[in-house]
Amino acid sequence: MHTLFAAVTGIYEWAPNLVSSRLSPGGALAAWVDTHRSLSGRTVLDLGAGTGVSALALADAGAQVVAVGASRPSLDVLESRRGDRKVDVVEADFRDLRLDATFDIVTLSRNTFFLAQSQDEKIELLRSVARHLKPSGGAFLDCTDPAEFLRTGGDATSVTYPLGRERMVTITQTSDRATQAVMSIFLVQSATELTAFHETATWATLAEIRLLTRMAGLAVTAVNGSYAGEEYRSRSREMLVVLERKCP
Ligand SMILES: C[S@@+](CC[C@H](N)C(=O)[O-])C[C@H]1O[C@@H](n2cnc3c(N)ncnc32)[C@H](O)[C@@H]1O
Repeated sequence: MHTLFAAVTGIYEWAPNLVSSRLSPGGALAAWVDTHRSLSGRTVLDLGAGTGVSALALADAGAQVVAVGASRPSLDVLESRRGDRKVDVVEADFRDLRLDATFDIVTLSRNTFFLAQSQDEKIELLRSVARHLKPSGGAFLDCTDPAEFLRTGGDATSVTYPLGRERMVTITQTSDRATQAVMSIFLVQSATELTAFHETATWATLAEIRLLTRMAGLAVTAVNGSYAGEEYRSRSREMLVVLERKCP
């Protein structure tokens, strides 16, 4: 079993179709959010929007979305795929974001939370979530369960996918229990070219997330183990966390 972790801006530009089909759930994420808070007519802030796989799916479910990302090339892809959906794009760092608006829903999709590497950065990101959440709003952390990163016992695992007819991508991952880090190397190959890029992410356990969210003025109010809304259990592959503002 391979854990897929799309954290690299480059993979979004190289392979948006791969990202939508395999690495990022898009529609499944929107369906999960919708079981907790109806998306129809709601305002959504999608932090770490990338090429918009999640932001576009959230808009398709009826939401009005503000998509925040740090990578201009990824946001260009998002804008080129947006069509007439209600998705506004903001190029900014999500940690110190200060929009003059609050939202019904804030999403951090497909392990974006783990891209805040240190605990301080994670708290900063969660404070940004809290700043932009309406008092009655809900925030959604869409994470791979950390146990998935450890199943191989620290050995590197590789998986190769075709990218259309002429290229393929090999994703190699290794995890380090001591630092809670997942290292991913992406190799994109064609007959004439080889391009490599890498990414490190740092996971947090549910216990850590509960603590960090409290420090940011939020509270964990639900956890699911799948996008279908199954209960979170010891063998769940996903760790899907719902946050609300903590009552004073
Ligand atoms: C794991 S990807 C998820 C992309 C998208 N949400 C999806 O579901 O496909 C994380 C995204 O966050 C962006 N990102 C990373 N650090 C960021 C930061 N400090 N501020 C804003 N965006 C950031 C990356 O460029 C990348 O596009």
